[in-house]
Amino acid sequence: MTTESPIGIFDSGIGGLTVVKAVQAALPAERIIYFGDTARVPYGPKSQITIRKYAADDTAILMRYQPKVIIVACNTVSALALDVVEKSCGKIPVIGVLKAGAKLAVQVSKNNRIGVIGTQATVCSNAYACAINQLNADIEVISQACPLFVPLAEEGFINHPATRLIAEQYLAGFRKQEIDTLVLGCTHYPILRQVIEETIGSKIRIIDSAEAVALRTRELLLESGLLNPSGHVSVPHLLVSDLPQKFSMLYQLFMGSELPDVELVEV
Ligand code: DGL
Repeated sequence: MTTESPIGIFDSGIGGLTVVKAVQAALPAERIIYFGDTARVPYGPKSQITIRKYAADDTAILMRYQPKVIIVACNTVSALALDVVEKSCGKIPVIGVLKAGAKLAVQVSKNNRIGVIGTQATVCSNAYACAINQLNADIEVISQACPLFVPLAEEGFINHPATRLIAEQYLAGFRKQEIDTLVLGCTHYPILRQVIEETIGSKIRIIDSAEAVALRTRELLLESGLLNPSGHVSVPHLLVSDLPQKFSMLYQLFMGSELPDVELVEV
């Protein structure tokens, strides 16, 4: 591992790009290798056994590039299979999105009532409630699975009437819960942030763990002397397991950059 080694980031699809964006902003000189498992998205409705298998495959793909750190930009994998990733990485440090989101929510909440939205697998795992209550046992965590948000984000339905209708259906229950903080416990959800924010109301603080993860990554690279000193801005290397053209177009839409090259890899 050297300062030139890349940062590996993965998710089931485009959701992890929300993390790529934050890492790029915090660490513009770092080389990023991103893998989106577009052949097998969504992960959220799948069983733990399947998610753990996918996590091992995703890690193996990134390990080919000898990264200096791996960021699990997927809450579902962070909740159910972080140990699988850590085991496959050996000495390479692993950063998951879940703990960062939980920590930020605990810091922000004033009334100790936190809402969490995520995939079916993340919500059923209870991992957010555990992580939040480990930091503060007095906090009440109210969770809601929002499985349709993932395909809506993958379709680029950022501000579509269908997204508004489904958001109303999923989020209405939070109104009587008096939460003051809502964690976007799936990296696809920040793509739909505007609709989520407008549906839930402006009084509730929305937590997106991407920035916290980026800051943690910088801290870790600094501590280990692996921060890339070059002043050169790097373009991420993108890998997907299916439909590279579609990914390229969505990347352009979300990241506002030129159509990037996307490489197809087999899982
Ligand atoms: N973006 C991922 C997450 O944070 C996975 C969503 C999915 O594939 O269902 O959970």
